[in-house]
Amino acid sequence: MRKKIVAGNWKMNLGKQEADQLFDGISQQLSKESKADVMVFPPAIYLDRLVQKNDPTITIGIQNFYPKEKGAYTGEISVAQVRNIGATHVLIGHSERRAYFQESNVLLKEKVDAALEHDLTVVFCCGEPLMIREMNQEMTFVRMQLEESLFHLESAQLQKCIIAYEPVWAIGTGKTASVEQAEEMHAAIRSWILEKYDANTANAISILYGGSCNAANAQELFACPNVDGGLIGGAALEVESFIQIIQSF
Ligand code: 13P
Repeated sequence: MRKKIVAGNWKMNLGKQEADQLFDGISQQLSKESKADVMVFPPAIYLDRLVQKNDPTITIGIQNFYPKEKGAYTGEISVAQVRNIGATHVLIGHSERRAYFQESNVLLKEKVDAALEHDLTVVFCCGEPLMIREMNQEMTFVRMQLEESLFHLESAQLQKCIIAYEPVWAIGTGKTASVEQAEEMHAAIRSWILEKYDANTANAISILYGGSCNAANAQELFACPNVDGGLIGGAALEVESFIQIIQSF
């Protein structure tokens, strides 16, 4: 049975006190009966202090890392360091990293392998830009992202990954994918896993939707049979809206 997940990607937002307040607020308001696993991806400089809060109901991950063990890579954070401070999850392939930092499918594959080697759970992001959707090429595009960075894994490794479908045109734009568009892509992703692996694997992997998901639209998106939760940007920066999204299950 695949997990229901709501993850907050805080991106490059919040000061130290604000990050504390947001984390503590979520922590206090999160119901013990929450039907979804809750994750947050804060800016890296706050990871350690949030991990130290030791809240077993909130999983903490890093937004980015460098896929080398250690060494002369000024400014970078290694997977070993992420693991060492007690974070357990990593975001890989977010469209902002692909677009602003030229992260290629080849580099993302390297990151996936490095993360799994250190027993970190991967949240792998995929999704097409607007131009690709306008050309009706979104299926081919997203499939290629998965083929080139994720589908080299063995089934057992792939089962340690979570996939997040985030159409680039829906991120931060207030323009959410329709329920039909989200379900169509999520079902396609699951069918590709079925085709390349097996039913067990396809049914074990959570596929999250991201892109202007908020308290008002989460319920209908999460009701789609192949949508197992959300990766939330803007609406994850306020306790109330994030909690409401979690309660949408
Ligand atoms: P928004 O929810 O702000 O559109 O961002 C989505 C996202 O990029 C999460 O990773």
